This record gives sequence, structure tokens and C-alpha cells, in this order.
Amino acid sequence: MKLIFLGPPGAGKGTLAARAVDIVKVPHISTGNIFREAIAAKSELGLTVKAIIDAGKLVDDQTTIALVRDRLARDDARGGYILDGFPRTIPQAEALEGFSTLDRVVNFDLPDEVVLKRLGGRRTCKHCGTNFHILFDKPKREGLCDSCGGELYIRDDDKEEAVAKRLEVYREQTAPLTGYYRKKGLLVDVDASPSQEQVVENFKKSLGL
Ligand code: AP5
Repeated sequence: MKLIFLGPPGAGKGTLAARAVDIVKVPHISTGNIFREAIAAKSELGLTVKAIIDAGKLVDDQTTIALVRDRLARDDARGGYILDGFPRTIPQAEALEGFSTLDRVVNFDLPDEVVLKRLGGRRTCKHCGTNFHILFDKPKREGLCDSCGGELYIRDDDKEEAVAKRLEVYREQTAPLTGYYRKKGLLVDVDASPSQEQVVENFKKSLGL
């Protein structure tokens, strides 16, 4: 199954994807994670995109499209994938049609105030990227990842100014994709505001799983 997860920053796309991989048995491919790994490795890509991401802006379409095209060509993505954070612009969506088909686009539906609460309390593992939340998904040991014991940190783009920019960019450049995919008959809306367990159930129901 080839799925896109579409929704505002902090909607819970990565959190649901981590659970959904066991349900749909396809890899989770997150452009945000790929960029963060490149930044941590101080690769050429990482050095190029760090300031853009920290400011809450989008990496250019050309770079992002090339990266996703390469990633989807790998063996593990042949049978399907959950693509989280791509496409984020109409040109990215049009480019994707040139190198992959799609089964469904899952649209995370939730109000802005919930988004702000989720981003405000997110803590991310420096080592494996797992997300936690200081209120809704506390780690067993404060400041440490349950999965690998890595140190938890606050993403630079979760700071107030960057969050405001990310929401503005989402409204201007990414939200129009809901209409784009709805017209194609691919969009399914998932109520993403309840607990993680309930969101998993809503996801399964929306796909008839
Ligand atoms: P990316 O990492 O994709 O950022 P995002 O879309 O803003 O998404 P987030 O990772 O912030 O949130 P999420 O929806 O995954 O929420 P999460 O599950 O963590 O991209 C980062 C940057 O990279 C972009 O800003 C851009 O610069 C660049 N980039 C990436 N893709 C690009 C592209 N295609 N083109 C150009 N540039 C690109 O959950 C959030 C919090 O809520 C967590 O603390 C979690 O524990 C908690 N939570 C989750 N679900 C629930 C629930 N049901 N109840 C309570 N709490 C919950």
C-alpha cells in the first residue's frame, strides 16, 4: 500500500506512522527525519538545509524531489510505503506522479490549539528520533528515550518563532494539497485529535482495515 500522511506540523504524523508500519507492513519514509539525520551527520545536504529547517521554512522542491525519488527506488519501498512530510507543495505532488502511483492520502484533521499543545511539549530522541511528549507520552525515565536510552531534546524548529513560521508555510503551501488530492478521489480524513490509541483506530477505519 502506498500512503501519504498529510497534515499540519505536530499533528502526530510521525507518531501514527511508527504504529502504522506494523499494520500495513510497509516502511515509514519521513523527509523531515532524512533531513535531521543529514544534519546530525553534518553531511553536505545537512549543512545546506540546517538553517532553512531551523527557521521553519521549506527546503527547495528540486532537492526534496530528488531525495524522495532516490529513496522510493530502493528495494524496501517497492511494495509500498508511508510517505510522511512529502509532498508539501503542488510541484512536489506533480513530480511524485511521475515516479510513483498512490493508493490513499491520509489527511490529519485537528484544530490549531491541539497542534500547538503537541509541538509545545514534544521531546525527540537525539539518537533514534522517537518522539515523546511531556504530558501525553512521557518517557519512563525523564529525559531519556524508552527505545534506545538516547538523550531527549527540543527540536530547534519547535521554538515559538519557527512554529509560527511552519504553520504559516503549511497554510500557504501545503494545505492546498488537500483539495488537490480530494479532487483525485484519494483523500481520506482522519480525526487526529484524540489519544494515540484512538487515532490508530480512526486510521484503520478510514482505510477499511
Ligand atoms: P517534518 O519533520 O516533516 O515536520 P512536520 O511536518 O512539521 O511534522 P512534525 O515532525 O513536526 O510533526 P508530526 O506530525 O510528525 O507530529 P509528531 O508525531 O512528532 O519536517 C521538518 C522540516 O523539514 C520542515 O519544516 C521543512 O523545513 C523540512 N521538510 C520536510 N519535508 C519537506 C518537504 N517535503 N519539502 C520541503 N521541506 C521539507 O507528534 C507531535 C507531538 O505530539 C509529539 O510530542 C507526540 O508525542 C505528540 N502526539 C502525537 N500524537 C498524539 C496524540 N494522538 N495525542 C497526544 N499527543 C500526541
